Amino acid sequence: MTQIKIFDTTLRDGEQSPGVNLNQLEKLEIAKQLERLNVDVMEAGFPASSQGDFNAVEKIAQTITKSTVTALARANKNDIDQAWEAIKEAKKPRIHVFIATSPIHMKDKLKKTPEEVIDIAVEMVKYAKEKCSDVEWSAEDASRSDLPFLATIIEKVIAAGATVVNLPDTVGYTTPKEYGEMFKYVKENVPNINQVDLSTHCHDDLGMAVANTIAGIQNGATQVEGTINGIGERAGNVALEELAVGLEIRKDFYPFKTQLVLKEIKRTSDMISKLTGMIVPGNKAVVGRNAFAHESGIHQDGVLKNTQTYEIITPELVGVQSNNLVLGKHSGRHAFKDRITQLGFTLSEEKISEAFKSFKQLTDRKKEVTDDDLFVLLMDIQTDVSHRKQYQLHSFQVHYDSAHSPTATVTLETPSQKIVTGEKSGAGSVEALYHTIESLIEEKVQLTDFTLSSIGKGKDALAEVHVHLNVNEQSVSGRGTAQDVLEAATHAFLNAVNRIFIKKKVD
Ligand code: KIV
Ligand code: ZN
Repeated sequence: MTQIKIFDTTLRDGEQSPGVNLNQLEKLEIAKQLERLNVDVMEAGFPASSQGDFNAVEKIAQTITKSTVTALARANKNDIDQAWEAIKEAKKPRIHVFIATSPIHMKDKLKKTPEEVIDIAVEMVKYAKEKCSDVEWSAEDASRSDLPFLATIIEKVIAAGATVVNLPDTVGYTTPKEYGEMFKYVKENVPNINQVDLSTHCHDDLGMAVANTIAGIQNGATQVEGTINGIGERAGNVALEELAVGLEIRKDFYPFKTQLVLKEIKRTSDMISKLTGMIVPGNKAVVGRNAFAHESGIHQDGVLKNTQTYEIITPELVGVQSNNLVLGKHSGRHAFKDRITQLGFTLSEEKISEAFKSFKQLTDRKKEVTDDDLFVLLMDIQTDVSHRKQYQLHSFQVHYDSAHSPTATVTLETPSQKIVTGEKSGAGSVEALYHTIESLIEEKVQLTDFTLSSIGKGKDALAEVHVHLNVNEQSVSGRGTAQDVLEAATHAFLNAVNRIFIKKKVD
């Protein structure tokens, strides 16, 4: 079995998904979970892109000890300086430098000749290498590049000190055969290729990212880059959980393994879905809600007789628990603290007290508190960056009857600590609430997306709302959880608006 290294770019390429904007604490929680999942490398961000990204990468580099932490840089000195400054305290730092190599990118985007691109790539790999012994070089749009040109530039960047060479299918255009042949060509035509790890990086525009990635490793790649839940630009990146579970389940066929801790997959997927607001479709392979549900009578009958008739992946393999009822009204602080640790959270005593208070409030209204409920509650507390300079909800009421338009009354505290109250109506209760909030805040807001889902099952399940807004022409997402749907919707809206302020403070 050949060991394939997993390079997770959820926090960089994944964060480039439209409307996703994680704050520093959220990124840190994801990084810690990626380390529990045991990824070999995590790309923490693109420090030169913003001060917020720089700070988050720096914090992750200072915290993570097992995985390599890398940061992206364009092929220029400033980007490389910023990347190095952000990751230099990591136990295992790596600088990731990229430049485009396809004719269309070189001519129309970079406005450079192929010779100039070679010179820049070599110079910048050398520059990065002076700072960091581990340097990855990516040929952006490699899958649409000229193969002999690719072989020439790869040989030169390896001679300049690159330790990893990554060949992305940047626009998700390639096919498994074509992508595999590119790796084969590079293996056969670059004399010093065995000095480096060769890496895949597939986007999913044509739905072929997993197949393309596998074709890459069948032809010599020893690292794969992707994201959890396949989030990323446009149609996203290859979903790492699909690849890792595919290799595990078909190990009779594929001679490759990864070192991912597969039972951490579900929790990682849930965390990323919750914090990014990118909901995982029910039928998504490996982590979708229905991935292990058997609906038809014939399937249910078969599974009852022998689970393997229709079940090729057990829920336990990826950490889906069948019975995760844990705590209730009479559970004490000790049991609560134990459960927090088992769920993988490390909270300060102050945050544990805050979480225990919220848990007790929840048990007043909900008899059975599941791991899913606790996860949401703890995640909210762990990533809460609330401070005085933001909008805070004091109270709200909605008047609804089937004969009239609903009317909402909302009282808020503004960032300048004024208490304001307003009343507006709308076609539905949520619209009435949102109209009212909009009338009370100074920000210019436009709602672009709204999703409502339940955490777990049952009539008393918690409601979770994700929204995407344009606030002062910046796209932001927000989330809110509560037992009541309207309360969750209100929190989600204010959470999105407040992210503008939170970003200013935490980033
Ligand atoms: O898709 C791509 O080409 C990338 C590179 C920047 C590595 O994300
Ligand atoms: Zn990419």
